Amino acid sequence: MISYGKKYYFKGGGILDDVWDIPTIASTSSERIGYPTQKPEELISRFIRAFCPEGGVVSDFFCGGGTTPAVAQRLGRRWIACDQSRVAIAVTADRLARGALTLEGGMSQIPDFTIEYWGVYETRRLTQMPEAQFRKFVLTCFGAREETQTAGIHGYKGSVPVWVCHPDPKQEVTHKEVVAFANAIRRTLAYQQANLRDGIMLGWAFTPEAQQTADQLRERQNVDVNFVRLDLIRIDSPRFREHVASLSTEHADYLNFLTFVQAPRVQVGYKRLSPLTYQFDISDTVITNAGAKIINVQWDFNYDGKRFVSTEGYALGKATTNITYKFPSTGVYRVACRVQDDKGGEGLWVGEIRVK
Ligand SMILES: C[S@@+](CC[C@H](N)C(=O)[O-])C[C@H]1O[C@@H](n2cnc3c(N)ncnc32)[C@H](O)[C@@H]1O
Repeated sequence: MISYGKKYYFKGGGILDDVWDIPTIASTSSERIGYPTQKPEELISRFIRAFCPEGGVVSDFFCGGGTTPAVAQRLGRRWIACDQSRVAIAVTADRLARGALTLEGGMSQIPDFTIEYWGVYETRRLTQMPEAQFRKFVLTCFGAREETQTAGIHGYKGSVPVWVCHPDPKQEVTHKEVVAFANAIRRTLAYQQANLRDGIMLGWAFTPEAQQTADQLRERQNVDVNFVRLDLIRIDSPRFREHVASLSTEHADYLNFLTFVQAPRVQVGYKRLSPLTYQFDISDTVITNAGAKIINVQWDFNYDGKRFVSTEGYALGKATTNITYKFPSTGVYRVACRVQDDKGGEGLWVGEIRVK
């Protein structure tokens, strides 16, 4: 490319001005989603086509209303999108799901993406993780390193072998698992050469037989298996607050400044106004974050129980407590309402409605 004054002359002969004249999105355009700083798709499309090959990865770490991932998806690029605002993430997810490709036969295909919330550990997801991923997570939290080469030992804390239970909290550690771990410890060089006899088992619960077995091993067989119980503690519980505060020895008043974002308790009331038409009301919703106010309400009137996709016209809603919706036909519908507050709290209500 040769630059000359304001114009760029490409070797192939084309001319490109150094000003891109792209109009803002008209207020009536269907492209407008209502995100305050939304950029025109044409602008983002030019950047992506110029700088990222097909199949390449486009990242936007301040994705706002999701223009970048939406355009990247359409242009056949992979993408990573981030934002500090939950509203931005909700709007982006909606936009991607609604921009689904329509396949032959009228079926639509929603792009395969996942949403990760940084710094938030959802206990349900934790207990449903694949075993290997769960173990790695627990070992990291415990300050241990993962071990993948030695059968029966999952990690080491310093030089002490560590074993991690199954992700399902209903599964207790059994005496057989204790024996197997003790045998794995005995096979280690550290045990055989330096008589390092300790081991740690991390588990949700231990059967009485498991406890007995550990006691016997300690007394008779020179293996010292210690149990550490995993527990799911709510982040806003007094127990957790006290624990975090106890870690701060420098600031005695730490507890006063410790706040956690909490989910609003979404309450939805509804009534039938006329055939197929219902009014929904969220005025009984309780906002649990001090001083917070609702900034976004979205509705999915045909929720599949997995992926929330706002019904057209019901995405990025202001704090409207009352809305009216006309269902397409009679039948049973699963309805979901997502409420977000300006402190980052987010809650979901799901209900089944027999529409008449
Ligand atoms: C100008 S908007 C992006 C608009 C976007 N291009 C679109 O088309 O909708 C900037 C975004 O950056 C986000 N943001 C600001 N500071 C951030 C930070 N430190 N980390 C992550 N996101 C941040 C804001 O929440 C906002 O959504």
